[in-house]
Amino acid sequence: MTSAPARKSHRIAVIGGDGIGPEVVAEGLKVLSAIAPRHGLRYEAVQYPFSTDRWLATGGEHGGETLPDSAFAEIKDGCDAVLLGAIGDPRAPVGLVEHGVIMRLRVGLDLFVNLRPIKLYDARLCPLKDKRPEDVDMVICRENTEDAYTAKAEFTNKGTPDEVAVQPMRYTRKGTERIIRYAFELARRRNKQKKLLLIDKANAVRAQDLWTRTFAEVAKEYPDVATDHAYIDAACMWMLKNPEWFDVAVTTNLFGDIITDVGAMVQGGLGIAASGNIHPGRVSLFEPIHGSAPKYKGQNSANPVATVMAVALMLDHLGHPEAGRVIEGAVASALQSGRIKSLSAGAQKTSEIGDLLASAVAG
Ligand SMILES: NC(=O)c1ccc[n+]([C@@H]2O[C@H](COP(=O)([O-])OP(=O)(O)OC[C@H]3O[C@@H](n4cnc5c(N)ncnc54)[C@H](O)[C@@H]3O)[C@@H](O)[C@H]2O)c1
Repeated sequence: MTSAPARKSHRIAVIGGDGIGPEVVAEGLKVLSAIAPRHGLRYEAVQYPFSTDRWLATGGEHGGETLPDSAFAEIKDGCDAVLLGAIGDPRAPVGLVEHGVIMRLRVGLDLFVNLRPIKLYDARLCPLKDKRPEDVDMVICRENTEDAYTAKAEFTNKGTPDEVAVQPMRYTRKGTERIIRYAFELARRRNKQKKLLLIDKANAVRAQDLWTRTFAEVAKEYPDVATDHAYIDAACMWMLKNPEWFDVAVTTNLFGDIITDVGAMVQGGLGIAASGNIHPGRVSLFEPIHGSAPKYKGQNSANPVATVMAVALMLDHLGHPEAGRVIEGAVASALQSGRIKSLSAGAQKTSEIGDLLASAVAG
């Protein structure tokens, strides 16, 4: 008789970051620790201090560190996932620490999928008239490593009336194909409407003809998945008018950034929206999509639900989809029963929401 193999222990890098980040991450970890025994989940949470405080303490503008090479290597080679709160603080130049930590991980770990489930758990949370939970259940797959976001900005004649600023939207066939293929697989696996929508602006940005052609070619391998197309402007309009038409959508980095915030509002706001930055089979990063909301820092008033939902996505990625579903169910039931009063800041203490979700998932 052979004994069952010991279940793998996951090493999770935890970066609380700035502002409300450490507070919401603490509640995410509380829920993780509560659900772990019930699902035989073994893990070690390794705390990393990367944040604007750290950048300032190590020199700030004079060589302060954002994410040092040694920590990047530890995360890349020794961790299974990263749980991130938020980065961003007015004491640092706009975007500097965000870029040094978040973009370094997204691009350095080649996390080419930005996965954004958009689901409404209670009709009272939706700002759209007469929309119910069954009308809002979609996933946006945003390409996460290309586009203008990873191209260099160039300024000529800076500060003069003749200034010109350029930052190209750059797409590769390989980068485009892998996110489109991921989205087709997801539409098939989800098995809901089995429909994949391509969102682009190929009529105006002709470089996106690469997306049109790649989508058409990959679609031939998925005859069971219906395809559709919308330009980004129309897609934003349709998401507000008829969210029930959406199942899985795939889009570029820039347009995905914008339309997923529209989606966040449709599902109830930044207080619930979570994302996975994923490379299938490799260390991947999970986070609430909101930022560091500096005005709420240290007040125990930010809503931790988005971070708890990021933990659910992380568990799915780590091979514990059932645990992820239990967390999602606990959030849904706490919202439907009114035990979580609101997704905004201030209605309840951050720690109180964490406590009630932790006790719900502990069973
Ligand atoms: N991934 C990230 O770490 C990330 C994402 C976006 C912005 N940022 C950074 O965060 C900083 C602040 O940016 P911002 O003000 O544009 O966006 P933000 O998401 O931090 O805050 C916008 C507003 O959303 C609400 N909000 C955000 N999180 C909430 C929560 N958990 N509970 C309740 N309400 C919440 C608040 O009303 C807040 O004022 C900036 O430095 C920005 O660069 C970081």
